[in-house]
Amino acid sequence: MSWHCFFLDLTGRVIGRRQRCTLIVILINMSTQESAIREFERHFGHPPAYVVRAPGRVNLIGEHTDYNDGFVLPIAIDRAVWIALRPISARRVCLHALDLKQSAEFSLAHIDRENQKWVEYIKGVAGALQHAGYPLAGWEGLITSSIPIGAGLSSSAALELAAARAFAAVSGFPWEAAKMARIGQQAERDWVGVNCGIMDQMISAMGRTGHALFIDCRSLKTDWVSLPPDMAVVVLDTATRRGLVDSAYNERRQQCNLAARFLGVPALRDVSQTALESKSAALDPVVYRRARHVVADNIRTRQAARALSQEDTVKLGQLVNASHISLRDDFEVSSPELDQIVECAQQTSGCYGARMTGAGFGGCAIAIVRPDAVQNFCKTVAINYRKATGLQPEIFICSAADGAAVDAV
Ligand code: GLA
Repeated sequence: MSWHCFFLDLTGRVIGRRQRCTLIVILINMSTQESAIREFERHFGHPPAYVVRAPGRVNLIGEHTDYNDGFVLPIAIDRAVWIALRPISARRVCLHALDLKQSAEFSLAHIDRENQKWVEYIKGVAGALQHAGYPLAGWEGLITSSIPIGAGLSSSAALELAAARAFAAVSGFPWEAAKMARIGQQAERDWVGVNCGIMDQMISAMGRTGHALFIDCRSLKTDWVSLPPDMAVVVLDTATRRGLVDSAYNERRQQCNLAARFLGVPALRDVSQTALESKSAALDPVVYRRARHVVADNIRTRQAARALSQEDTVKLGQLVNASHISLRDDFEVSSPELDQIVECAQQTSGCYGARMTGAGFGGCAIAIVRPDAVQNFCKTVAINYRKATGLQPEIFICSAADGAAVDAV
């Protein structure tokens, strides 16, 4: 991972000059791609035929809204899962995870659940694809990733989409991004057992360089919104990892469903603030606060997409700050460390706004920062967060990247 520091230093120095930033991102991607190819050859004894890449994500705004049929505004980031691979004649998948130094294989004729962690995501994708009628060919592949695990940057969705791209490449079926996002979600829900929404898989499948993706999670209608030149997106990793997130996540989902049922609508997406307020006294107070967050964040997300397209970064920052308060107080999915890093960010010069991102309970926050202040911003937040918590955060500037892709080698 030596390129990692290289990335931080260089990016810090050149931020604000888009072309040079893009060049650095390309260089880093190339080095990960080359290492996947080189290590494949070393492990399997011959060169790969393809290399696939699927990115992680940060969500600018619209949190815990996707499973309420609402709106989200994520970006695909320049950290990704890479698989170098080659078709094989047997209907098997033979894998080596470079970073974990683990190998595994399974048959496509009979897929068993074995709780092998990372392998289960790939089996889940294979199972979902076969269930949807895609005939699958076998392959051998080497996996490597630059997305930290459990940090809320969607390393699992990236693995699912990379696997889907790998199956598409060797089996010869066309790549349909939204369909593949659904396949990834099914793998995670039905095979791995995490009842997630659709946001992470959609953005990993459909991201675009320099753009955020506005997603209507009911219709899956999407709009790319270009990111204004006067903003940098900074990822603030608290160095804490979420515990018990699945049970808390499922509990939030149940509370949202309860609220929707009580209000007589299919999903909280269909509730206006006025309708919610008129029934507030009759609702359980906790369920009411959960619903209040979702209804308000849906409104904020639409406003944020508008603010982005009008290059109104100040407005975007205000919406991002308001979203954090709502996640902290109404949805209660923040953590002391996330609150601390968000506060450090908001108090540092050049920051338009900051909030936790992803499911919560640990992991990462994001900040929207003025490019000319970003270098100092990263340093100051790191110092102040360390002082307040004793933890060493990882702070990096990210750029919006393309979604899952395949290259012939
Ligand atoms: C996780 C889930 C997403 C979404 C977010 C919260 O990342 O995988 O579907 O629900 O949490 O917005």
